[in-house]
Amino acid sequence: MPVAKQSEIAPAEGRLGVLLVGLGAVSTTFIAGVEAIKKGFAQPIGSLTQMGTIRLGKRTDNRVPLIKDFVPLAQLKDMVFGAWDIFPDSAYDAALNAGVLEKELLGQLKEPLRKIKPMKAVFDQSYVKRLSGTNVKTGKNKFELAQQLIDEIAEWKRKNKCSRLVMIWAASTEIFLKPHAVHKTLDSFEQAMRDNHKAIAPSMIYAYAALKSGIPFANGAPNLTVDIPALMTLADKNKLAICGKDFKTGQTLMKTIIAPGLKSRMLGLHGWYSTNILGNRDGEVLDDPDSFKTKEESKLSVLEYILQPEVYPDLYKDFSHVVRINYYPPRGDNKEGWDNIDIFGWLGYPMQIKIDFLCRDSILAAPIVLDLALFLDLAQRAGMKGVQEWLSFYFKSPQTAPGLYPEHDIFIQLMKLKNTLRHLRGEDLITHLGLEYYD
Ligand SMILES: NC(=O)c1ccc[n+]([C@@H]2O[C@H](COP(=O)([O-])OP(=O)(O)OC[C@H]3O[C@@H](n4cnc5c(N)ncnc54)[C@H](O)[C@@H]3O)[C@@H](O)[C@H]2O)c1
Repeated sequence: MPVAKQSEIAPAEGRLGVLLVGLGAVSTTFIAGVEAIKKGFAQPIGSLTQMGTIRLGKRTDNRVPLIKDFVPLAQLKDMVFGAWDIFPDSAYDAALNAGVLEKELLGQLKEPLRKIKPMKAVFDQSYVKRLSGTNVKTGKNKFELAQQLIDEIAEWKRKNKCSRLVMIWAASTEIFLKPHAVHKTLDSFEQAMRDNHKAIAPSMIYAYAALKSGIPFANGAPNLTVDIPALMTLADKNKLAICGKDFKTGQTLMKTIIAPGLKSRMLGLHGWYSTNILGNRDGEVLDDPDSFKTKEESKLSVLEYILQPEVYPDLYKDFSHVVRINYYPPRGDNKEGWDNIDIFGWLGYPMQIKIDFLCRDSILAAPIVLDLALFLDLAQRAGMKGVQEWLSFYFKSPQTAPGLYPEHDIFIQLMKLKNTLRHLRGEDLITHLGLEYYD
């Protein structure tokens, strides 16, 4: 990730193609949202790149530009979208089917959405057991499927007259995979693709194709995907930005907002029980124990890292943390997440916090996809390569350099993100020391 202070950033000229793996609830809510914003029907609420500001210099300087005016981001009018899915439905039909956005709004966006037809997916049902579809590529082996993707990406870029591309995985959560010996080097990874090795999941084939095509890659699901040495090496070698894993929305977003607050006041934790009811296709896929296992790992690690029981054993040793997701069709995308938090305070007296978050998963995820597409493109033009830890802000399970633990506290993540932008533009980093005001 290293990048020089005040580095040269190539201008955002021409069209930015956003390639989405998976054209489901999140992707269609994102695309429809951007199209609605382009037409002036709505505002980009929830998007830091569009609505966020950044303070520069001293508090008395009054320099607080919008982030999008401070760093050269691509403009929404220059964004075009492509996708792969195992179902052949256009973005319009897929959005209707996902049921997140109202029919009237989608009706007004019919024209741009109908044009987006998903390309045939690289898919294998052994990695997502609850799904089967027909819009799927065939090939001799996984290496050949990757070559098909590489050719298709080049053709798509030419046809859509794009100057730059980014790829984001917003497809279903795959089964839990552990790092395997074949993931160690690029050679062993490519050989394993030729051998159709089961340690190579479809998401890895897309990531490989992106990195071979010179495209930065973000992973919105908890799958291992690009978090393996072979693909991290490939990203480094080809000077490409990568980040993941698992968009931080809903319950985990609340956890990373509340847990740092409890810790900052030295309040203890006996236990945190989280349960969800969710009725969309994501919920259906996560009803399979192997896919849920991948999600569970990603959701569970958050509290351990924020609360640091090894540093504060009197407050956080052995707290109980349980996470459940229940597939409940009537609820659709409008998830309900309950948290029961058993805390303790002065002299060990117990207290409870209850949260009932009636959230809309894809409404929370869509602005993350937008920000990631724009920031990955920025990182690329600024010459930032490898794991982009400053984008941890957007992920449940942030990818880091090997051996480094992830930072989960959302306030530290935001400070890191903004300081990275200041660093890129040669501005002073903000430490909040503030002694100069009292000299
Ligand atoms: N919505 C959220 O708040 C949120 C938060 C964090 C992570 N995620 C993750 O984002 C992903 C997308 O979520 P969603 O709600 O849009 O789910 P969804 O089920 O609505 O959409 C996923 C789409 O991916 C397609 N797909 C599956 N495997 C594919 C493959 N190999 N190639 C191409 N397409 C494939 C499916 O057919 C489906 O249309 C899931 O992995 C989910 O866990 C979502």
